[in-house]
This record gives sequence, structure tokens and C-alpha cells, in this order.
Amino acid sequence: MDYIEITEITKRVEIKIAATLSPKRYAHCKSTGAVAVMLSERFGVNKEASYLAGLSHDMCRELSFEEQENLVDNYGACIAFLRGRPSLEALFSDTTYKRKMIHGPAAACLLCHEFGMREPDILEAVALHSVADEEMSNIAKIVYISDKLEPLRSRPQDVDEKLHTLDLDALFVYTIACVVHWFSEADKPLSPFTADLYSRMLK
Ligand SMILES: [Fe+2]
Ligand SMILES: [Fe+2]
Repeated sequence: MDYIEITEITKRVEIKIAATLSPKRYAHCKSTGAVAVMLSERFGVNKEASYLAGLSHDMCRELSFEEQENLVDNYGACIAFLRGRPSLEALFSDTTYKRKMIHGPAAACLLCHEFGMREPDILEAVALHSVADEEMSNIAKIVYISDKLEPLRSRPQDVDEKLHTLDLDALFVYTIACVVHWFSEADKPLSPFTADLYSRMLK
């Protein structure tokens, strides 16, 4: 898929999310895309692809669970290449976390079905942005990091320094550590898959 096609899809996604998301979530998606571009320039990744993945990652977040589930049921073939990934299987098999996290796979299915996006790295980045795993492509890691550390969120004081100095894998581990810390601080249950991922990364 070339630059022009990605740029055209990005314009259409932007129109859709401006019209359908709350202003706060729309701003979060734009901010995630902007951080993804900065990191893509740092790490030599296709910035148009990262921007589109960052922009669209939460485009189904405000649909009902049933609507999100329908997208995955109807257009799951778009992300069939991800089936068998332990992170995605964990997401689908735990009913509690599925309700919170299925908006990622749903957005990947919508991006593929409605907008014609077929790039595996972009679909993977969108589908797995809420769960994460060690096998993720560089674009997927960048979108995961950007979603969690974009400046409209409340963040640790050293985030900007980390975003500009750590290498990609170190930044990925740092981001997961932030997520674990935030859930602990808020006394919210962390998904068992993320808890295991963090334990594996500390070894
Ligand atoms: Fe999300
Ligand atoms: Fe997000």
C-alpha cells in the first residue's frame, strides 16, 4: 500500500472520528497520532502508517459492546492473521477484559472493511493497542506507547525525557511499567495477560 493510499484513508478516518467521537477522545486520537509520528521519525518507521494507526486506534471506543463485537464477528477475517496470538486469545477469552479491550480488534476490522486498509502492521497496531505483547511490530509498539504516554493524559514528570532518549524496546517496557503502576494506584484490576507480560519483561 503506497503513501497516497494511506494518506487518502487517513483523511477519511479523520472526517469520521471528528464526526463520531467525543471532543476529548478525538483529541486523544490526534495526540496519539502526533506522538506516534515523533517516535516513528526517531526510530526510522513509516510515519504515515504510524499516524493512521494512532489516529484510528480508538475509533470504536464509543460504540456499544454489542456493536464492537458485531464488527469482530462480521469482519474478523481482516485480522485472521493475528489469531493464535496469545495476547489476542487472552483478550477474547476473558469476558471482563474483552468488554474493555475489544474496541481495538473492532477498530482494526472497521479500518479494513470500511476504509480498505490491508497493511498487517497497521491492523496489528490498532487491534493490539490495549493488550500488547512481545511479538508486536515496531509500529504496534509505537502506537501502544503513544496511546499511553501522549501529553493529554496525566503522565509521570520524566515522560518527555524518556520519549526522546530511550530506545524502542526500553520505552515499551517503561510504558508497560507505567500501566501497571497506574492500575495499582487506581486500585483497578489489571488484566492477567498484562501482569504476566510485565513479569516476563522484568526477568
Ligand atoms: Fe483504546
Ligand atoms: Fe487510546
